[in-house]
Amino acid sequence: MSRENGQNITVYLTEEQINKRVAEIGAEITEKFKGESVYLICILKGSIFFTTELAKRIDLPLEMDFMTVSSYGAQTVSSGVINVKQDLSGSIEGKNVIVVEDIIDSGNTLSRLLQLFKSRNPKTLTLCTLLDKPDRRVVKDVVVDYTGFVVPDKFIVGYGLDWDQKYRNLPYIGFVEE
Ligand code: IMP
Ligand code: MG
Repeated sequence: MSRENGQNITVYLTEEQINKRVAEIGAEITEKFKGESVYLICILKGSIFFTTELAKRIDLPLEMDFMTVSSYGAQTVSSGVINVKQDLSGSIEGKNVIVVEDIIDSGNTLSRLLQLFKSRNPKTLTLCTLLDKPDRRVVKDVVVDYTGFVVPDKFIVGYGLDWDQKYRNLPYIGFVEE
C-alpha cells in the first residue's frame, strides 16, 4: 500500500512487471510485421507512457501519431459517444495501424474508434491495450490483438491512468482504496 495525495493506493503491478510485459508485446509486434513499417496511434492521455515504452520495444520503421478523445467527462461510466478533441496529424490510408489504448472497460471507446479508423482505409488495423477489464464489457464485438494484463473490476490508476486527472505519473499501476 502506498499513500499518494492523501489517498491509499494498493500496488497491483510494479514498473518492472509492466516494462517486462511491454517488451514482450513489442517483440511480438516486431515479429508479426517483419519487413514492414507500422503506424502507432497513442490514444491520449491515458496511453502516453504505454505507447512511448512500446514504441521503444518495436524494432521496425515506425511512425507515431496521437489522438485525444473524451468519453467520460466527470462520470465514471463511459457513454458510448466519443468526442474527438484532437485528430491524428497524418493519413493512415494503406498503413499498418496499431491503436494503443490504456484500458478497455465497457469497450465503447475502442469500438467507436475502430469504426472511425476503418473508414480511413488502413492496410491493417491492430488493437493493443495495456489493461483489459472484461467484467465490465458492454460491447461484445471488440477483438483485441495484444493485451498487457487482465485486471479485476476495480478503479485503476497510474502509468498513465488517472482518477480525476490525478495519479497518471505513478510509475506503477494500482487500485484506489475508497
Ligand atoms: P470504455 O469506453 O468504457 O472502454 O473506457 C475506456 C476509457 O475509460 C479508457 O481509455 C480510460 O481512459 C477510461 N477508464 C476505464 N476504466 C478506467 C480505470 O479503471 N481507471 C482509469 N481510467 C479508466
Ligand atoms: Mg483512455
